[in-house]
Amino acid sequence: MSFIELKHINKKYENAERNSVTDFTLSIEEKEFIAFVGPSGCGKSTTLRMIAGFEDITGGDLYIDGVRVNETAPRDRGIAMVFQNYALYPHMTVEKNIAYGLMNMKVPAGEIKKKVDWAVKILGLEEFRYRKPKNLSGGQRQRVALGRAIVKNQKVFLMDEPLSNLDAKLRVSMRNEISRLHRELGTTTIYVTHDQVEAMTMADRIVIMKEGVMQQVGRPMELYEHPVNKFVAGFIGSPQMNFYPVVLEDNLLKFADGSRIAMPDVMLERLGDRRGEMIMGIRGEDIKLDEQNMELYQKDRQHAVVENTEVMGNENNLYFTFGGSLTVARVSKYEISQIGDAIDFVFSPLKMHFFDKDTEESILK
Ligand SMILES: Nc1ncnc2c1ncn2[C@@H]1O[C@H](COP(=O)(O)OP(=O)(O)OP(=O)(O)O)[C@@H](O)[C@H]1O
Ligand SMILES: [Mg+2]
Repeated sequence: MSFIELKHINKKYENAERNSVTDFTLSIEEKEFIAFVGPSGCGKSTTLRMIAGFEDITGGDLYIDGVRVNETAPRDRGIAMVFQNYALYPHMTVEKNIAYGLMNMKVPAGEIKKKVDWAVKILGLEEFRYRKPKNLSGGQRQRVALGRAIVKNQKVFLMDEPLSNLDAKLRVSMRNEISRLHRELGTTTIYVTHDQVEAMTMADRIVIMKEGVMQQVGRPMELYEHPVNKFVAGFIGSPQMNFYPVVLEDNLLKFADGSRIAMPDVMLERLGDRRGEMIMGIRGEDIKLDEQNMELYQKDRQHAVVENTEVMGNENNLYFTFGGSLTVARVSKYEISQIGDAIDFVFSPLKMHFFDKDTEESILK
């Protein structure tokens, strides 16, 4: 048995018409960092709160460290939780805020001091130790909230969007701090976010949810390279994957605007005997404008006129209409064009994804 086991977990709130979480099954290993991602309302917090014990489990079984804890009180589950809207005690100093939970648990004073010393050090809060929360920045306050969780020395950390109140720059630095903390402490962590970049950069494995149902679980690059359906393909990655309604006839991929691309044998093999209408998806970085790729896929060269650009230096996006759909290509700084420029480009055919037009499930073998 794994460290945390969720077996066919369901949640239906009283008075709700349908389940908020349906048949959620997942095994989490000790020391793993798991991220739950998905759009607003997909059931991330509900699942986390059931693990914490703040919500009843309607159906299924939850095990932590080998013990079934469905009916166990939150304080006896061995978890520490960090919320989005953590409330620090405004009249207490940083060290008192961090120590407060331990004082409540009647931990001896000497031990509390040791733990607080350790926490302020590991979180870089030493010079703020005697300050009150109102005299701290958002990131420093967030670190105090983390401090309260780590001193409790629990088996599992549960974090629900802990960084969403911070500005973009602070989010990036706190993201690194939490990752470092996880490497140092090795505490099994479940981290809820709707930010796929946070999930991709921090997690060992990501769980993607939609409308209460787990869509896919896997390592970040696994989800990026092999999404099981169009939803996952579209959710992971920025800018979003491009999608086209297409028809595959023999080895020819036909687009809504009449464009055609010949499919290489490797790809046909992965498509088996699937032909006809389907959805093709390709990521912006797999649309190529460089000479080498243009030469390689010379026969399937396409043309378009640039409608918009996003130039950020290291990351440059060109927008144009192709195949009847707005398309974004991610290009290097050597291929930046201006609005109105006519461009030639090719698709990396081996990087294409194919989805059933009705079920939207991946049809690649
Ligand atoms: N106390 C409640 N009573 C009834 N329905 C609820 C309750 N809490 C949440 N829900 C519903 O359950 C579903 C899942 O909510 P949940 O808060 O888990 O979503 P989430 O993925 O955390 O979303 P967000 O990213 O917005 O925080 C939603 O449809 C929500 O409206
Ligand atoms: Mg939530």
